[in-house]
Amino acid sequence: MPERIFIGVAWPYANGPLHLGHIAGCYLPADIFARYHRLKGNEVLMVSGSDQHGTPITIRAEQEGTTPQEVVSRYHALFQKDWKRLGIGFDLFTTTGTDNHRQVAHDIFLSLLRQGYLYQAVMSQPYCQKQGRFLPDRYVEGTCPNCGNPRARGDQCEACGKPMNPQDLVGMRCRLCDEPPVIRETTHFFLKLSAFQDRLLEWARTKEDIWRPNVYNSTIGFLQSGLQDRAITRDIEWGVAVPVEGEEFAHKRLYVWFEAVIGYLSASKEWAQRAGQPERWRDFWQDKGCRSYYFIGKDNIPFHTIIWPAMLMGYSDHSLPYDVPANEFLTLEARKFSTSQNWAVWLPDYLERYAPDPLRYYLSAAMPETGDADFSWREFVRRNNDELVATYGNLAHRVLTFTYRNFDGRVPQPGALDSTDQELLARADRAAEDAGRHLEHCNFRMALDASMGLAQAANRYVDVKAPWRSFREDRVACATALWTTLRVLCTLKTTLYPFLPFSSQRLHELLGFTGAVEQTGWQAQDLPPRQQLAKPEPLFSKLDDAVVEEETGRLEAQRR
Ligand code: MF3
Ligand code: ZN
Repeated sequence: MPERIFIGVAWPYANGPLHLGHIAGCYLPADIFARYHRLKGNEVLMVSGSDQHGTPITIRAEQEGTTPQEVVSRYHALFQKDWKRLGIGFDLFTTTGTDNHRQVAHDIFLSLLRQGYLYQAVMSQPYCQKQGRFLPDRYVEGTCPNCGNPRARGDQCEACGKPMNPQDLVGMRCRLCDEPPVIRETTHFFLKLSAFQDRLLEWARTKEDIWRPNVYNSTIGFLQSGLQDRAITRDIEWGVAVPVEGEEFAHKRLYVWFEAVIGYLSASKEWAQRAGQPERWRDFWQDKGCRSYYFIGKDNIPFHTIIWPAMLMGYSDHSLPYDVPANEFLTLEARKFSTSQNWAVWLPDYLERYAPDPLRYYLSAAMPETGDADFSWREFVRRNNDELVATYGNLAHRVLTFTYRNFDGRVPQPGALDSTDQELLARADRAAEDAGRHLEHCNFRMALDASMGLAQAANRYVDVKAPWRSFREDRVACATALWTTLRVLCTLKTTLYPFLPFSSQRLHELLGFTGAVEQTGWQAQDLPPRQQLAKPEPLFSKLDDAVVEEETGRLEAQRR
C-alpha cells in the first residue's frame, strides 16, 4: 500500500539569491527524499514558498530604494527558475503573500486566541527617535553578548547563531541611522509557549531514535531550560495583518516566523485547491498514517521542533512533525558563507556555467548531515572528474558504445550466467536495498555511497570480463557480460535517480526505455534482450583543471 509523505522545506526569505549553503542545507535533501518516495510509488506532497515578510525584506527594499513587493517579486521569480534548473521538484512553491495564506494564518491566530493560548502584554522595544519608529528584529544591531560579534542583529547573532532580544545587544544602535535607540513600551500578542512545555517534552522524548542527535539534543535542551512566552506581533507595516478590531493593532503585523511556519499548512491547502480537490490536504495533515518531514538548516531547529508543534497542538488535531532532519552548515573554501562579505557561490551563477547533476552529486556526497562540510572548487572538479565521470559516466559510456556498435544497436541476448555475473547482479540488489534503507532514514551520504560502490564493482567486473576481447573469441560470453553490465546500469539509473535526476533520465533513454524514470518503481527494471538502444552520448563531461583557478579567482574578486 502506498505510504503518504508530507515534505515541508524551509521557506527562503525572498530578499536575495540562494547560495550553495542553502541548497546543501535543505533543498537538495528534501528533493532527494521526495524523488525516492515518488519512485517507490508513495504519495508525496512537497511544499514551500518565498518567505516574503519581516525585516529581512523591508531592509533590503529600503537599501535599494524600492518597495518590499518589488524585491519579493524579483527573487520569487528567480527561485522558481532555479528550482527548475536544479531539478528541485516542489509540488507547490508559493509565497506567504497569498490571500489563502492570510486566511489560514488568521484562522490559526483566532483559534489560539479563543483557546487562551494568545494574550496581550506590554513590552519594551527599542525606538529610534530620529526615524520616529520602532526598531523590530533586524533594525537594531549591536555587540553579541555571547560571542562578541559587533554586528549582531536584534533577532539573532549570525556569527554564533544565538537567538536575541534587542535588549540583549551591547551598544544597541539603529541600523538605519546608527543612533542609539530609546526604549518605549508597546503592546503585543504573546504565544503562551509555557502552556505547552510538558506536552512538548513528552512528545519530543518519543523522537530519540528518530531525530538526528543534534536535533534531538538541542530540542530537549531548550525544553528543559524552560520555555518563555514569545511576542508574535511586531511594530511594522509589512506583513500579515493582526486579525483584531481597532486602532491599536492597525499598524502592527504578525511576526514573520509565526506566520511563515503556517505556510506549510496554507501551501498544502493551496495545492489541493489548485489540484481541483480542495479537501485533499487533509490526507497529509489529518491522516494518522501520513508522516511529515521538515527539511531545514540547523539555525531553524527550534521553530520546527518547538514553536510550530506548539501552535499545532493548540490549534487542532493536525499531525505534528514526524522527523526534522536538519542539516549542519556548509562552508566555502573552509570559510563560513557570508552574504555581507559576498563570500558565496550563488546558485544562479553556478547554473549559468555548469550542469545541475555534478553539483547535486558533490553536495550529496559531502552533505553536512552530522557535521559541517566544505565546498571547494578543487574538490568539485575532482569529484566530477574522478567519481562522476570516471566511475559512473565511463562505465555507462564504454559499455553502451561498445554494445551499440557491435550488437546492432540493441541489448544483447545473454547466455547462461556464470558465478561472476550472478555475484554482480546480487550485489546490485544489495546496493539497492542498502540505498533504500539509508534513504528511508534520511542518511543521504550513505545512500549515495551504496550506489557508487556498485558502480565501482561494475567497473572491476568489466575489466575482468573484458568484453572487447571476448567479442572475437566467445560471442556469447561477450553478450552475457554486456547484458549483465547494462542490467546493473538499470539498477544505477534507479538508485541514483533521487540524486542525479537529469542523468538518470538520460541513461533511462539511452538504455532504450521511454517515459519518465520516476514512473518505473524502485525495483530495477528488467532489461529485455533485443531492446533498441539510443545512440550513446556521454552522461557527464570532464572539467578542466583551470576551472579551479578561474572560480577561486572569481570568489576573491567578488569578495567585500
Ligand atoms: N525564512 C527563514 C530563513 O530563511 C526560514 C523560514 S522557514 C519557515 O531562515 F518555517 F518559516 F517556513
Ligand atoms: Zn554571537
